[in-house]
Amino acid sequence: MGALAANENVRKLIPYVAGKPVEEVERELGITNIVKLASNESPLGPSPRALEAARRALENVRMYPEGSCHVLREKLSAHLGVPQQALMFGNGSDDLIHCLGLVFLQAGDEVVTGSPTFVRYEAAATLAGARYVEVPLRNYTYDLEALADAFTDRTRLVFVANPNNPTGTSNSAAEVDRLLQRLPERALLVLDEAYYEYVERTDYPDAIKSALEGKRVVVLRTFSKIHALAGLRVGYGIASEEIVGYVDQVREPFNVNSVAQYAAAASVDDVDHLQQSKSVNAAGKKQFYAAFDQLRLTHARSDANFVYVDLGRDASVVAEALLRKGVIIRSGRLMGNSTCARVTIGTAQENERFIQALSEVLS
Ligand SMILES: Cc1ncc(COP(=O)(O)O)c(C=O)c1O
Repeated sequence: MGALAANENVRKLIPYVAGKPVEEVERELGITNIVKLASNESPLGPSPRALEAARRALENVRMYPEGSCHVLREKLSAHLGVPQQALMFGNGSDDLIHCLGLVFLQAGDEVVTGSPTFVRYEAAATLAGARYVEVPLRNYTYDLEALADAFTDRTRLVFVANPNNPTGTSNSAAEVDRLLQRLPERALLVLDEAYYEYVERTDYPDAIKSALEGKRVVVLRTFSKIHALAGLRVGYGIASEEIVGYVDQVREPFNVNSVAQYAAAASVDDVDHLQQSKSVNAAGKKQFYAAFDQLRLTHARSDANFVYVDLGRDASVVAEALLRKGVIIRSGRLMGNSTCARVTIGTAQENERFIQALSEVLS
């Protein structure tokens, strides 16, 4: 690129490939009534209370947002029972992953995580010139013993997506405890709980407790999944005051917009809506499991709002055929396994459309 000299770490970044927007598929294929089960979005949409709060907040957009997310901070602090100073907010939890990379990584450091997992951890490592150490999943699940075996004195950040994206599997409290016991002194464990509201297992770790007890733990959560506010971009983290202070140093001063702050705060209150979203998801999961079993397709047991399924053949070919039938899923090729796909759980009707289309494509 001529005389331009971009940072060499920037040149190594792999561009993020997002799921196709519905409008784009409709335009390209000339079809309507498309079902998108590709980006782990909530099929029920946000709480009406969140939408109402967003509309009200729009009236004031001439003003800068609260840089500290004051209203949302108070609300979440009470809801989660955590001190206000233990909370940090981002433009999506993506933003917080990026900030943690800026704070804790330098060239030559190491980031340890599972593979396949959420792709933004790699970007944080690459940008800092850190080594990205990927430990293969076992049985579609983070192998936390193997992760600990990969630790060195250069390990600074350890990312565990719990539940994991793309496989939906989760790790138990006992597994995470053992990992924490082996965490090197200068390393920090990031427990990314983007899907925690959907978790059904009963031995799920109390990650917030670990973060507040002064263990080197950061918990990440988001309003993009069960709260269905992905388009507004708001995520949060729970960590020690010291870590929150460092993130405050590197984040943009107004990283969460005002509409997002008020919508998220209102969403926290709508417990019934969240419960309904969780029930619809649990029922949809059963629908998927039954269909996959009938089609003799191996799948992971999910604690999230999507299921990872082995289609037994090139998943991008299947995804393309489904696309022509108006159903968008996420082929696993981008996520480490060419025969697997990640399918977001939709409404009962959307799930049925997908199952019907998949049966036709596979027969
Ligand atoms: C495991 C995991 N973490 C973080 C995110 C980022 O979510 P957001 O930036 O929308 O809060 C996602 C989104 O897909 C995810 O799957």
